[in-house]
Amino acid sequence: MKEILDKLEKKRARARLGGGQKRIDAQHKRGKLTARERIDLLLDEGSFEEIDMFVEHRSTDFGMANRKIPGDGVVTGNGTINGRLTFVFSQDFTVFGGSLSETNAEKICKIMDMAMRVGAPVIGLNDSGGARIQEGVASLAGYADVFQKNILASGVIPQISVIMGPCAGGAVYSPAMTDFIFMVRDTSYMFVTGPDVVKTVTNEVVSLEELGGASTHTTKSSIADGAFDNDVEALAEIRRLFDFLPANNREKPPLRPTFDTGQRDEPSLDSVVPTSASKPYDMHEVIGKIVDEGDFFEIQAEHAKNILTGFARIEGAPIGIVANQPMVLAGCLDINSSRKAARFVRFCDCFNIPIITFVDVPGFLPGTAQEYGGIIKQGAKLLYAYGEATVPKITIITRKAYGGAYDVMASKHLRGDLNYAWPTAEIAVMGAKGAVEIIFRKEIGDREKIEAKTREYEEKFANPFVAAEKGFIDEVIMPHATRRRIARGLKVLANKKLENPWRKHGNIPL
Ligand code: HXC
Repeated sequence: MKEILDKLEKKRARARLGGGQKRIDAQHKRGKLTARERIDLLLDEGSFEEIDMFVEHRSTDFGMANRKIPGDGVVTGNGTINGRLTFVFSQDFTVFGGSLSETNAEKICKIMDMAMRVGAPVIGLNDSGGARIQEGVASLAGYADVFQKNILASGVIPQISVIMGPCAGGAVYSPAMTDFIFMVRDTSYMFVTGPDVVKTVTNEVVSLEELGGASTHTTKSSIADGAFDNDVEALAEIRRLFDFLPANNREKPPLRPTFDTGQRDEPSLDSVVPTSASKPYDMHEVIGKIVDEGDFFEIQAEHAKNILTGFARIEGAPIGIVANQPMVLAGCLDINSSRKAARFVRFCDCFNIPIITFVDVPGFLPGTAQEYGGIIKQGAKLLYAYGEATVPKITIITRKAYGGAYDVMASKHLRGDLNYAWPTAEIAVMGAKGAVEIIFRKEIGDREKIEAKTREYEEKFANPFVAAEKGFIDEVIMPHATRRRIARGLKVLANKKLENPWRKHGNIPL
């Protein structure tokens, strides 16, 4: 018996060595961890249960019959993060460059199926040369199988992708269909076609990093939701993100004990909004003062900075925050910010995370670039996402809520549950100056009259009371009481039930 057990141990040890010590050393030399080291950091100590450790590829072409490595380039299984179950696959670059073979895809599909059956998230650690070139169409089929599972799992279980090495060609489309993509700076890249093909086809000369590195994807393309300096930081932050998410779409997000009471007033909020309407202030500061222990996990922090999105907690319960940022483009809505926030709102709605919206928005950004870029439909994405969402929605207007952007930002009219305004709120079709210049266009030369009318318009609309009189604002609240109001509101809305009419699916303006 002992002999048999020893044999198993030896087989396991062989599998754990992946592509061998030389390739492991090369991986380390590049500042990258191995597939198994990454899993160890991601999951609770000792919690990983590996499956399919002995799976091998079936190809025989190009000398592959004699080149078999147990596990075949991807480590799969399940484990826990702070005690909660998750499934994980981690591509092993030391084995055929982590390339995806037919059997390798079957392993990924197997854990995705299990995750769907038990209702647990899937985290993919990507580090792969793409389709296993020796296998041809079999590996392409494998990719498509994974894509199909990603699609069916969307909105059912959270799916998180971490790009920790190459991710190129069609391989990018699996992460693209997951909920979040995070990258590691300097060691990861994503693109559909690499620099050489780009040069051949378009004559553009571009580096790997410029084309598909973390900085490109977190700032320009917005493909990635965040980037970290190294593998260790990335995996620690994924653990942090995981704690905000429910296991699946039927569960509520996990409660965490907190010392920060819901009764806490924050007197400094009473003076955060400057007296001059054109002066900016940092919405990060407002969020930091309101949420539990100032802890805000920002999503897409480097992209469309005129809107902030991310997770936080109130009295230990996760919330999703969307907030206009007056420090950037005066907090206006444009193509990028609308898309960014729409996707975030939809994620929260899929996974029962209440949405708290802070509004200080002067309107949509004007200009040909915006119109030609389709701001009409891009802005409509956010409008649609808010209007479709059935999770608890609490909105706080801190200052400006002008025009269509007022409607869009989780207004009462889009089934906002609790819509509060600070006394500094201004709710109007547009700013007073612009409004008067249009209404009194013919008398524009009469400065005195224009000034008087501007003051009149300000008095009438540069406050929250007209909206409050109509019930569009549920209450004008003291800024210092905002946390208390939100905490109370979330309790009131805890058992909210709202369903949209039956349909196969809506037709969001894509
Ligand atoms: C099989 C692969 C492989 C692949 C790498 N390897 N990619 N084996 N299929 N796709 C192997 C190499 O042969 C090598 O094996 C080992 O992995 C490490 O590769 P290196 O080239 O030495 O590493 P590096 O210099 O770091 O370069 C990494 C790389 C490069 C940039 C990823 O390997 C590369 O360009 N690979 C091919 C990428 C590609 O074109 N893939 C197909 C994309 S199309 P040894 O034994 O020497 O260690 C695609 C379609 C998907 O993915 C479509 C889905 C719809």
